Amino acid sequence: MKNELILILDFGGQYNQLIARRVRECNVYSEVVPFDISIEKIKEKNPKGIIFTGGPASVFADDSPKCDSEIFNLGIPILGICYGMQLMTITLGGNVEKANKREYGVTAVKIDNSSLLFKGFGNTNNFLMSHTDFVNELPEGFTNIASTPSCPNAGMENKDKNFYGIQFHPEVVHSENGINVIRNFLYEVCKCTGDWKISSFTKDKIQSLKEKIGDKKALCALSGGVDSSVAAVLLHKAIGKNLTCIFVDHGLLRKNEGDEVEKVFRDQFDINLIRVNCKDRFLSKLDGVTDPERKRKIIGEEFIRVFEEEAKKIGTVDYLVQGTIYPDVIESGLGKSSVIKSHHNVGGLPDYVDFKEIVEPLRDLFKDEVRKVGLELGIPENLVYRQPFPGPGLAIRIIGNITEDKLNILKEADSIFREEVANAGLHKSINQYFAVLTNLKSVGVMGDERTYDYTVALRAVETTDFMTGVWSKIPYDVLEKVSSRIVNEVEHVNRVVYDITSKPPATIEWE
Ligand code: XMP
Repeated sequence: MKNELILILDFGGQYNQLIARRVRECNVYSEVVPFDISIEKIKEKNPKGIIFTGGPASVFADDSPKCDSEIFNLGIPILGICYGMQLMTITLGGNVEKANKREYGVTAVKIDNSSLLFKGFGNTNNFLMSHTDFVNELPEGFTNIASTPSCPNAGMENKDKNFYGIQFHPEVVHSENGINVIRNFLYEVCKCTGDWKISSFTKDKIQSLKEKIGDKKALCALSGGVDSSVAAVLLHKAIGKNLTCIFVDHGLLRKNEGDEVEKVFRDQFDINLIRVNCKDRFLSKLDGVTDPERKRKIIGEEFIRVFEEEAKKIGTVDYLVQGTIYPDVIESGLGKSSVIKSHHNVGGLPDYVDFKEIVEPLRDLFKDEVRKVGLELGIPENLVYRQPFPGPGLAIRIIGNITEDKLNILKEADSIFREEVANAGLHKSINQYFAVLTNLKSVGVMGDERTYDYTVALRAVETTDFMTGVWSKIPYDVLEKVSSRIVNEVEHVNRVVYDITSKPPATIEWE
């Protein structure tokens, strides 16, 4: 069954993925496509509506992105946001004025709530405005539906053609009731019925995988991360024992993590699981290596080698399962092509694994949707909401060369930190937090004894995209407890410091 679809034409704005997610939150399936998508392709996709995103360009620039103007003759409702509204305006014969000053911030917008777009709204609403140019003359057939003192045409509609333009950003949380503008476009204008539900996605996906794979064999590299775990369980529900998962435990996972992964997949789901314990192999490859990028490369390559060796024992498989998700697809070329996600994000695709086709059951889903599918499938919450963990694992959290002793020290210290963050109820608000074993030794005193031991650094950040982030203001009493427990319970640590740098200029990881 094909879902109702909203096409989102990407003009390069920073909120494009957010628009797609908001549409899906309203139970309508959405896809982000390049702004220059062909008319034939649009017809083929047969969307219920189209949204033009914002973008950094000015419609006056020669090289500004423009879509095929035929799009306005398809009889499909269109909502233009910010740049999208301005493009709609100049294409349909209105006028945009070039401004020198940018208007930015949450602004009270006067709105005409007789417009379908603002059904259920009051007379004013606070929306985020972020623009330089603005529409000063509406195209023929359009009427004004919103304004601010500095932007007389903050909204416009052509009721007959179902074309809408808004200068503000309804997709961001700062816009009050923003989601309702999107919902009104979907339900009042495009007449969607709302057939995108995670529960039906899960059911349909299992069924379609069953039909596609039948009694053939599939292989999946399991990392314990959310994406590969959800992909594996989906496949397992579809083809049962014909799925084999290989879990390469490089020994650089957090305390008890390898066992926890095994417990879930083997005991709870009864998945055909091969756990390869190869800590010694990785440690010997890493012996004496201090350069972070070399560590990453060695781990990535070794991971692939182990996976290949295990896969060879199984022989030819028909399908290789990848946990690619929708942002990977968009970022690697706006749906045109997909870069195949490497296992653990550390290496490439195994060269010597004999498979016929790749299967990517999550390639249409955003991360929050993957999590919902995970919960739906019965994967435990702590795994579904696991904080991101780098593929090279603790190797890039031990500064300098890696030894088994250092690994054990870090595992213990990190486990205490995580336990206390959870005890303080902060685990949901801090997006990533961990301990780092610095290569620094310093003098301390324990009882009457002089000590000369390691310094552990604690790192905790709040971020939405992991590209930028701020250090988390963990209360002093929590930090005090963590510090005191680490120096008392973990041998060879006599000092704990807290990293108070944001990203940028620092990165989240220390290596
Ligand atoms: P940085 O340190 O660059 O990290 O601020 C941003 C996010 O990426 C994760 N990270 C990695 N993930 N392989 C991964 O799979 C890696 O080599 C790697 N390096 C950093 C990091 O944990 C954070 O979430």
